[in-house]
Amino acid sequence: MYTIGCQMNVLDSELALATLEGDGLNVVERAKEADVVLVNTCSVREKAEEKAYSWLGRMKLLKRENPDLVIGVLGCMAQKEGKLIFRRAPYVDIVAGTAHFTKIDDYVRQVQATGKRILAVGRDEEVETERRLKARETRHSAYVAVQRGCDHHCTYCVVPNTRGMETSRPLEEIVEECKILVGEGTQEITLLGQNIDSYGKRLQPRRRTLSELLYAVADVPGLKRLRFITSHPSDLKPELFQAFKDLPNLMPYLHFPAQSGSDEVLKRMRRGYTFDRYMELVAAAREAVPDMGLAGDTIVGFCGETEEDFEKTVELHRRTRYQNAYIFMYSERDYTPAKQQELADDVPLEVKKRRINHLMQLQRQWAEEENQKKIGQVTEIFGEGPSKKDPSKQEGRNPQNQVVIVESGRDLKGQFYRAEITAATDAALYGKLV
Ligand code: SAH
Ligand code: SF4
Ligand code: F3S
Repeated sequence: MYTIGCQMNVLDSELALATLEGDGLNVVERAKEADVVLVNTCSVREKAEEKAYSWLGRMKLLKRENPDLVIGVLGCMAQKEGKLIFRRAPYVDIVAGTAHFTKIDDYVRQVQATGKRILAVGRDEEVETERRLKARETRHSAYVAVQRGCDHHCTYCVVPNTRGMETSRPLEEIVEECKILVGEGTQEITLLGQNIDSYGKRLQPRRRTLSELLYAVADVPGLKRLRFITSHPSDLKPELFQAFKDLPNLMPYLHFPAQSGSDEVLKRMRRGYTFDRYMELVAAAREAVPDMGLAGDTIVGFCGETEEDFEKTVELHRRTRYQNAYIFMYSERDYTPAKQQELADDVPLEVKKRRINHLMQLQRQWAEEENQKKIGQVTEIFGEGPSKKDPSKQEGRNPQNQVVIVESGRDLKGQFYRAEITAATDAALYGKLV
């Protein structure tokens, strides 16, 4: 299984694998050894779709050697492109959209029995939410989907098309799932929703709120760390910050994308807030939770973005001082309001590149400055095991979700330990065990 895209896709891949394991299949390390290969796709930018097609190209070669190989495409691009994928890659056997991935075991069996292709991209289906607990990549830390789809209409964004309208899972069902996970050894849970602040708005018999959900999940005995993503500045309610004060296991981290600092661009993006409103929310977050780690997403080069607009975005980053900022060049997508309303993708690629490089460089500098201020602090780390870059060191996360690297001969995966920060770059903190 190859997963492209956001955390929701990471979770969906895990759920899809669990259904296959329930059916007696095992995960193997290399595609060469597999009977079934799957890609879980993303459509948010053109590059993400290109990645999927280039992977499919490699699978085509494997299928030449092994004609029984079943090739499946899941996720957002499957949903958006549907049968076009069969046209472009005729050797694909299964195209299953964002509401169908948990039936992948049936689809694989059908293909193996009949040799016929399967297209499953109907839009009315509800995502089956029962969680089978096998196939957990990391037992200690888990994602839980609380809401799927999105009711916003940000003009650049394809997600409402690929994932449909927003639906929330019942609060009790989520709490039950979290209890089971914690019972299985999970210590950290991240709740996922495209626009998590509006969690529960259509639930029956009564509306629920994100706050209620956080209090209920935080109460699960044995849960050490709780996080949630992603927040939308027009739906986030400052009252939510009270939950961070009340709940010791709710971690001080807010993924809170601004997208742009220019009011004109924000209007064209249909984001529903202004630069000033965003800064008010940032100030409120910092006042309520002084050590809050703020992360954001930013798009440069959106339709009609002038140098002045871009400067406002730089200003927003300068004032917010994000701990993590994910910065993207605008990539025009089919089925988005921008495309349908013919907002022209008129910022030349060189200009987009110049702007993204400029902003990334400043962002790195500011993040490094902020991280250096943490030298000398002692913080609690949740271990993730050997560092990818240097397996003689151990990697883990602080409460703000930053990577912290320490020297240790022991594997600290799944353990809590304390470390004093001794050095910092823009991307990581380094420390020693105390
Ligand atoms: N639901 C989340 C994010 C969804 S997509 C939210 O609303 O915050 C993740 C990020 O990809 C977005 O925050 C945005 O910054 C970026 N993105 C979305 N569409 C894009 C596009 N067409 N081109 C470039 N970046 C895009
Ligand atoms: Fe896309 Fe906007 Fe919905 Fe996020 S809130 S998924 S950016 S439409
Ligand atoms: Fe996620 Fe990409 Fe779909 S960001 S929701 S996998 S389009």
